[in-house]
Amino acid sequence: MGGRQLPTLYGVSLGPGNPKLLTLRAVEVLREAPKVFVPSSKGISRAEAIVSYFTKKRRIIRLDFPMVKDEAIVAKALQRNASRVCSILQRYGSCAYAALGDLSLYSTFWRLYPYVKEKMHDLDIEVIPGVPSFCACAASAKIPLALGDDIITIIPLSASRERIENLARYADTSILLKIKPSIIRSLKLVGKEYQQAVLAMHCSTDNEQVRVANIKELEELSKYFALMIVKRRKFL
Ligand SMILES: C[S@@+](CC[C@H](N)C(=O)[O-])C[C@H]1O[C@@H](n2cnc3c(N)ncnc32)[C@H](O)[C@@H]1O
Repeated sequence: MGGRQLPTLYGVSLGPGNPKLLTLRAVEVLREAPKVFVPSSKGISRAEAIVSYFTKKRRIIRLDFPMVKDEAIVAKALQRNASRVCSILQRYGSCAYAALGDLSLYSTFWRLYPYVKEKMHDLDIEVIPGVPSFCACAASAKIPLALGDDIITIIPLSASRERIENLARYADTSILLKIKPSIIRSLKLVGKEYQQAVLAMHCSTDNEQVRVANIKELEELSKYFALMIVKRRKFL
């Protein structure tokens, strides 16, 4: 008994942006981890800014994730990043990977993990949950996401127009992530069926902008915001 402890990778959910919105366990792991990896595409990311509240700069390692659709380029970057994580795990026995919101939602952590596991079969992980961006957005807008038997859909706007339209048709609340200008066409359908919209940017940070709008204002406003919650029935 009392066998050898496996190298451990901690997946830390950082919440939406405010360093006060991390769990106690997340803070504990960030303080104790010998190294903390953060995703970065250019310069200091919001994830890195949050992590630097809890650990020294020299313990933070940036991992580059190219924002491209070409899966071959992405796979190459994931291989490279997984090798860096494995070498830290071999050296220190543990390390953390930290990303925004909750890691179970569209996070680079779950893109990276299979590559790490392939290189290091004897590996343990602990995943620490966190506050997703849209929960922070609902809190700032002071509205519920769902009541009673309401159905919610979470839709990344990178999905096809057909799937977005089908899902949005049935949900009482649709949460739209990864907003981009081409969303506007898709919103024409949503606009027919929904009454209220909440648009949000930089939720929970000093630069937060949250606007509760009439659904008709969406087309214009959608250019400027990162996340939207559209509701079939108006709340208040
Ligand atoms: C790759 S997804 C990651 C979602 C994240 N794991 C979560 O739990 O919220 C990135 C999208 O989340 C939304 N997002 C993340 N943080 C946000 C914030 N603080 N304010 C508004 N939207 C945010 C935006 O729609 C962005 O395009």
